[in-house]
Amino acid sequence: MLKEKRILLGVTGSIAAYKAVDLTRELTKRGAEVQVVMTEAATRFVAPLSFETLSRQPVLLDMFSLAYGSQIGHIAATAHADLFVIAPATAHTIAKLAHGLANDFITNIYLASRCPILLAPAMDSDMYQHAVVQENLARLRDRGVHIVGPASGELASGLTGPGRLVEPADIVEAIERLLESSRDLVGEVVLVTAGPTREPLDPVRYLSNRSSGKMGYAIAEAAGLRGARVILVSGPTSLPPPRGADLNRVETAQEMHDAVLSELEAATVVIKAAAVADYRPKQVASRKIKKDETVPEVTLESTPDILAEVGKRKGRRILVGFAAETDDLVANARKKLQRKNLDLMVANDLRQPGAGFDSDTNVVKILDARGGVEELPLLSKRVVADRILDRVVQLLKQRNQRAETGNRKLETG
Ligand code: PMT
Repeated sequence: MLKEKRILLGVTGSIAAYKAVDLTRELTKRGAEVQVVMTEAATRFVAPLSFETLSRQPVLLDMFSLAYGSQIGHIAATAHADLFVIAPATAHTIAKLAHGLANDFITNIYLASRCPILLAPAMDSDMYQHAVVQENLARLRDRGVHIVGPASGELASGLTGPGRLVEPADIVEAIERLLESSRDLVGEVVLVTAGPTREPLDPVRYLSNRSSGKMGYAIAEAAGLRGARVILVSGPTSLPPPRGADLNRVETAQEMHDAVLSELEAATVVIKAAAVADYRPKQVASRKIKKDETVPEVTLESTPDILAEVGKRKGRRILVGFAAETDDLVANARKKLQRKNLDLMVANDLRQPGAGFDSDTNVVKILDARGGVEELPLLSKRVVADRILDRVVQLLKQRNQRAETGNRKLETG
């Protein structure tokens, strides 16, 4: 599993830094290529030479030297990494990561990274239990950072409690698990829709809704990190484009329809998190409707139902829809799942605080085509995104197994 994997190992200033030496040994023994990055404080606990001997690479330490020939060190270091693990991660480094501060190699690498990130915290138990540390860890978790440990036990301070760095073997196991799941969409093309649509009334006014695009963008980001090629068809949002996604910006439901159908051929998975307007003004005024004219009457007409149309052309694709409901959540979502020929329907419970439109969190139930309902608690949209993709991966595996069995029958038949 670890053979030829490129692992960046960040070591920060903790008494537990000596365990990172063992971790380096374990990783290299399993065939990984380990690039160690240390903070200045970490070098007070363990000499860089120990890591250099085991990893057979110079340790990255000095932000101001061109570590990779003429390239900028932290950018070059992240470019080919399969995983970035920080072990031990001190409270100080965790705080910097949570708030985007970048004053050393490790924090710069974090901001430039496109690979999965694993933290193994280590600190005194009172520090670990402090509300600020817990908030910082929660913030990072919500952004998709993975955390292993800490373990409970005797600490350097003489106290006993949570805060010990987990053992190198546990970190290796967490790395292996993460590497496995982090590449589980390689070879798939995931088409995601996000955000609202705008249906013009005249050149300055439109009908729309409160979708921010956060849910769809989180899915696009998560799918990209798991190795998929991502095509994101997005209505108007103020979000930065997810790294690596092919972004196709649209405004109206008709434009979203055209974009989705033109990208459909390549897609193996379609996830429709966009809140598409169901109706649009039948007439669009070519000039701004004046206030001094009589109050206008607007006649609406239906927009194309994009997902229903994709459902008709489904083929072997995995189709995931979203439903935002205030009443009869499961029953209404199930009707849409069946009507649109979906594999999964993610139902947002709009009556729950922190769910649905424009929040950073969501409360959803995932319905499947066999009648199953998985209830998720309040989670960040980024974590919800991964939970949805876990279900997609399961379905892809089942589909591939069915295809293999079919092929075998054909060969033997
Ligand atoms: O963007 P955020 O602020 O993060 O909020 C996320 C969200 C609440 C918008 C998202 O999680 C969500 O629930 N999106 C779908 C909401 C919705 O419009 O549901 P619906 O019941 O109208 O549509 C059901 C499904 O059909 C959706 O997947 C929708 O994309 C699709 N649809 C709907 C109408 C239409 N004309 N074409 C479609 O493809």
